[in-house]
Amino acid sequence: MTLRLAAALALCACSLFANRSVQDFNDDWRFQKDPEGRLDASAAAFNDAAWQALRLPHDWAISGPFDPKADGGTGKLPWRGVGWYRKSFSLPEADAVTRVYLHFDGVMASPEVFINGQRAGGWDYGYLGFHVDATPFIAFGKTNTVAVKADTRSHHSRWYPGAGIYRKVTFTICDPVHVAHDATFVTTPDVSAAQATVQVVSAVTNATDQAVTATVTVTLRDLAGKKNVAAKELRITIPARSAAPLEHRFTLAAPRLWDMAQPNLYQARLAVATDAFTDIETTRFGIRSFSFPADDGFHLNGRRVQLNGVDLHADLGPLGMAFNRSAMRRQLELMRDMGFNALRTSHNCPAPEVLDLCDEMGLFVWNEAFDKWEGTSGRRSDQNLEEYVSRNLRQFVRRDRNHPSVFIWSIGNEIPPAKPGDAKDPGMTQARCTLFREVIRELDTTRPVGIGCCHGNAVGMGIFENLDLTGWNYGGQYANIRRKYPNKPVLYSESASALSSYGYYAVPQAQHKTDFALADREVCSYDHNAAPWSDIPDLEFARMERDRYCGGEFVWTGLDYLGEPTPYMHYFEQMRQFPQEEMARSSYFGIADLCGVPKDRFYLYRSHWNKADTTLHILPHWNWAGKEGQNVPVYVYTSGDSAELFLNGRSLGRRAKGQPQAKPANLAAGKPATASTFETALHNNPAAHAVDGSADTRWCASSEAKPQWWQVDLGAPTAFRYVSVNFESELKGYGYEILASDDAATWTTLFAKKLGAEAAAVLDKPAHCRYVRIAFTDLDKGRWASIREFSLSNEKPANPYYDVCDTYRLRWMDVVYAPGELKAVAYKDGKQIAEKVMRTAGKAVAVRLTPEQPAVPADGESVVFVQVDVTDADGTRDPRAVNRIRFSLTGPGEIVAVGNGNPRAYDVFTDTASHPLYFGKAVAIVRRKLYETAPIVLTASAEGLAPATATLK
Ligand code: GAL
Repeated sequence: MTLRLAAALALCACSLFANRSVQDFNDDWRFQKDPEGRLDASAAAFNDAAWQALRLPHDWAISGPFDPKADGGTGKLPWRGVGWYRKSFSLPEADAVTRVYLHFDGVMASPEVFINGQRAGGWDYGYLGFHVDATPFIAFGKTNTVAVKADTRSHHSRWYPGAGIYRKVTFTICDPVHVAHDATFVTTPDVSAAQATVQVVSAVTNATDQAVTATVTVTLRDLAGKKNVAAKELRITIPARSAAPLEHRFTLAAPRLWDMAQPNLYQARLAVATDAFTDIETTRFGIRSFSFPADDGFHLNGRRVQLNGVDLHADLGPLGMAFNRSAMRRQLELMRDMGFNALRTSHNCPAPEVLDLCDEMGLFVWNEAFDKWEGTSGRRSDQNLEEYVSRNLRQFVRRDRNHPSVFIWSIGNEIPPAKPGDAKDPGMTQARCTLFREVIRELDTTRPVGIGCCHGNAVGMGIFENLDLTGWNYGGQYANIRRKYPNKPVLYSESASALSSYGYYAVPQAQHKTDFALADREVCSYDHNAAPWSDIPDLEFARMERDRYCGGEFVWTGLDYLGEPTPYMHYFEQMRQFPQEEMARSSYFGIADLCGVPKDRFYLYRSHWNKADTTLHILPHWNWAGKEGQNVPVYVYTSGDSAELFLNGRSLGRRAKGQPQAKPANLAAGKPATASTFETALHNNPAAHAVDGSADTRWCASSEAKPQWWQVDLGAPTAFRYVSVNFESELKGYGYEILASDDAATWTTLFAKKLGAEAAAVLDKPAHCRYVRIAFTDLDKGRWASIREFSLSNEKPANPYYDVCDTYRLRWMDVVYAPGELKAVAYKDGKQIAEKVMRTAGKAVAVRLTPEQPAVPADGESVVFVQVDVTDADGTRDPRAVNRIRFSLTGPGEIVAVGNGNPRAYDVFTDTASHPLYFGKAVAIVRRKLYETAPIVLTASAEGLAPATATLK
């Protein structure tokens, strides 16, 4: 039970024989920033009258201002420093025998809590909550002061971490005999459709000076069926000033299982009663079974489920890190509409409500505790690594182990192997992985313990020997560990890292995944781009369809986030020629932009993942004044198997998935191929797969041993001009030579490239010979020689890297632009399933507001996102508009933040008077005042355009 206090200073009286009361403690705080850390505001008498009044959760850095000269890696926002928060409250004298706990869900970072001037508690890791036993510090019958110091100065981050008390605070008052904090653990050791065993383990604390005997009634309630289904009365004796354990197993007939479509939940209610005291604690749980068969991915309740996951960082775009349940639900709902079913909380412990939402929505959670174990974990260099990580893992597991959505504990991400013999190196070792798994298993043996990794060499070093599962980032790297540990399950913990700016298209298109639209400082939304170490979505789809032993992928990332603006950051050497001001402050990785507006990629994923609904999406926009008569390729993302495209009523032909683009004849196609070694035991990768016309298959060497070679025999000396090699992963990671010969004995070098160097995917290397060989001279760590497709031709082919797109997208490459109407009609199994029209927008005449919800709840917390665009006289959206929109609001609410998807903008999100559109789009985020019910009217206007209003009930 969470009671909200309407701005009351006095907390409700709580007398003996009362059940515990858990109250919201977020109103009426005062805040002061102290960038240099000079202030001491811990004293009860400290005068904070001039400080800013606010309601938690709060992120002091999101209001900026952005510092264009600062590093975009952490968002160019001022999150470093100290912030103080203070609040007064009183408790009646009659409560003096109760216990009082303050629970903080998350404070960035290193919080110290003072009550009436005395240090009452604190924590170090900013991503994890903690509780403080306030009882000894409270003056009952008087006014009390709590002061919290948050200090981010020793926290390190690879993205924007926020700052301050950014998650909720609760205040618990209970009797001195009560269910112990985080002690209850409900598990379901045996689950079938017919019956389930439910085990409840907990402990009762006795904070009095006498031993007590308590009756504990454990009741199980079916929340979907709204009825109690089992109960048991236990009697336990608890010595003075200690805790005593309790345990009971129930057998439930015909349990309602927790599953994706029906995430049924139960509740375990523990009612404690002694002669003098009572307490009630409730814990939600779900009944489900899952497993990771190493050869068959992931099983839930006995059947295989493909994990269509995304990674998400914790910020909520323009709201920053200040947690908001409704904004988080919006993100998850958007992702679920795309067909997503699994979240990786990269790379930190999420807000508890995230897990509540996932429980309620039937989503799986890869629950991750840390990025690295150095400064990004919040660990100071003087803190012992083993102690710090173990202590935080214990807190994490106790907090989250009752959530049915959680199915993996992850102890870290991409931690490099420690230098052998260097005890100070914070890297991975077998001993650390083993220890952290044991620490977790002391508290929960029902879930596998894993790690997200990218360092292939760690496998050979035996580092993962004792982990239950590993997740691999990029390049299909999960395949490598199976050679050593065929029985260890694998997941694809980061896939894609594809990149795009919402609404921006470069024509002509990028021909290589790292050809960014540098001149415009944008990334094209034709979905041709990915980070150097990663791939376009289609390639990952193909991997997931092929490698069924892998349980599924987690796309990096579901939404853009603040920080890590690859490619526009100085982390990349080629960007250092530009001043910081021209770099970006938020990412391009998102399937949706920073404001949760879907990019084109959203529809590509939806067309492949969402099997229940129809998808039909056309790109790019159709406003190309100045390009009349020129080529503008058109892509259609659809759940259908084919579509016909029309421009101004004229058919541009019907295309089907799996139908490749016309390309020059490959003189090597189907010709006999051989290789130094090839690997067929696990994956069937013979040499011929590199010339079989399909990039879904590949040749792969049988080990990482060097050197390796692959060659094709053209049968007779043959003339060709272009050589193209589509490698298994990033070209840069291979050192190789292309050799020509007529007798397979004497070779001439056509081309040579060193490991780490870039090269064109299609090489203009005219030659005349019978044999062509690719000799691998060097390989990136952990990489194996491997080729997806090889071609020799006389006309220039398109980069074969994009061949895979024809399996998942429909592409009309030679459309000649004319303004007007572009129409796609999609078909599945011969039947028309959808039709979509896109029009060229005329001159913009009006602003348009589209609230995503019709009403804003009066809970003082929920927000509604309102989409903003401008339209022509016919209501067609202008996809290139950049107008500055002015906002105003009447009624009992406020505009909390405004934003758009531009990763390079420096307009402050909380400066809500105005904000520019970015490629025709912005959002305004509206909240209602607590308990107020009158309509809220949002008005948006722009110079020379008719204004718009939206009324929110
Ligand atoms: C991974 C890393 C992520 C993110 C991503 C960007 O290597 O685990 O945190 O940095 O790259 O592609």
